Amino acid sequence: MKDRLEEMSRTATAAMAQTDSEAALQEVRVRFLGKKGELTGLMKGMGQLSAEERPVIGALANRVKEELENLFDSRLAVVREAEISRRLARERIDITLPGRRVFAGSKHPITLVTEEVVEIFAALGFGVAEGPEVEKDFYNFEALNIPKDHPARDMQDTFYITEDVVLRTHTSPVQIRTMLRHAPPVRVIAPGTVYRRDSDLTHSPMFHQVEGFLVDKHVTFGDLKGILTAFVTQFFSEKVGIRFRPSFFPFTEPSAEVDIQCVICGGTGCRVCKQSGWLEILGSGMIDPEVFKSVNYDPEVYSGFAFGVGLERLAMLKYGVSDLRLFFENDLRFLRQF
Ligand code: PHE
Repeated sequence: MKDRLEEMSRTATAAMAQTDSEAALQEVRVRFLGKKGELTGLMKGMGQLSAEERPVIGALANRVKEELENLFDSRLAVVREAEISRRLARERIDITLPGRRVFAGSKHPITLVTEEVVEIFAALGFGVAEGPEVEKDFYNFEALNIPKDHPARDMQDTFYITEDVVLRTHTSPVQIRTMLRHAPPVRVIAPGTVYRRDSDLTHSPMFHQVEGFLVDKHVTFGDLKGILTAFVTQFFSEKVGIRFRPSFFPFTEPSAEVDIQCVICGGTGCRVCKQSGWLEILGSGMIDPEVFKSVNYDPEVYSGFAFGVGLERLAMLKYGVSDLRLFFENDLRFLRQF
């Protein structure tokens, strides 16, 4: 009995020394000291002992139990300590690492350019108007003196929704809507999204324009030149060269396209301006009397000019962006630069 008690004590001591977690240690305790453990099991044999042996073995059993419990307590402290150190090592925080930066949102370059254009014209007395992107044929074409057989109405260029409804191909229908609602004088700019069946390096099926127009008595081509020159010099710079080149639009007569000196090469000729030194930035002209008739303005009394600017084009030139698609891909590395 004594030998078995001492044998058990050695086995239990060795088992505790090998544990490296509180859970494992508790298991060892239950195995040897628990209610159904080995010590209890041994004590059941006490009944067979003689009257002299019983107190001796009883005392020994108590001592073994006490020793093992003390051992358990000290091992528990060691194991807990080790667990804490392991956890600290595992959950270590490197406070020298840079923090995660929070980026404030910024405006899209097309929004920035739109706001700047609106601001420049607001200072010249222009108010802002808007119109629908899904537009009736009448406003997009008919009232703008674009007859049914005009090439601009070709299926190639226009997204038709029905025979009579299109995605507007330009912001010019806002001219018609505004003039039908307001008697002259009017001075309005209309920024907005437009659509054309066109897609390559420099064309997107969805893009943006700002329309501008002014109608009053005695408005001349000189007013058009003055306002557009003021706009270009404010938007780009005082120094940039500007020229008016004869052109054609069904809703203006005479018509002119405005070129600015190439902002990339300064006018000496490069790939961007195709060696010409000039870049086209907008279409303009004196509003055609036919247009006035369709909005019931008297062309004998009133005259006016109109223009349409491509906003992506302005943004590319202003910020030196060479690929139109960057504006629509929403790559944050691009957008955060503005
Ligand atoms: N609407 C024309 C276009 O999209 C631009 C323009 C507007 C030209 C107003 C003249 C007057 O190309």
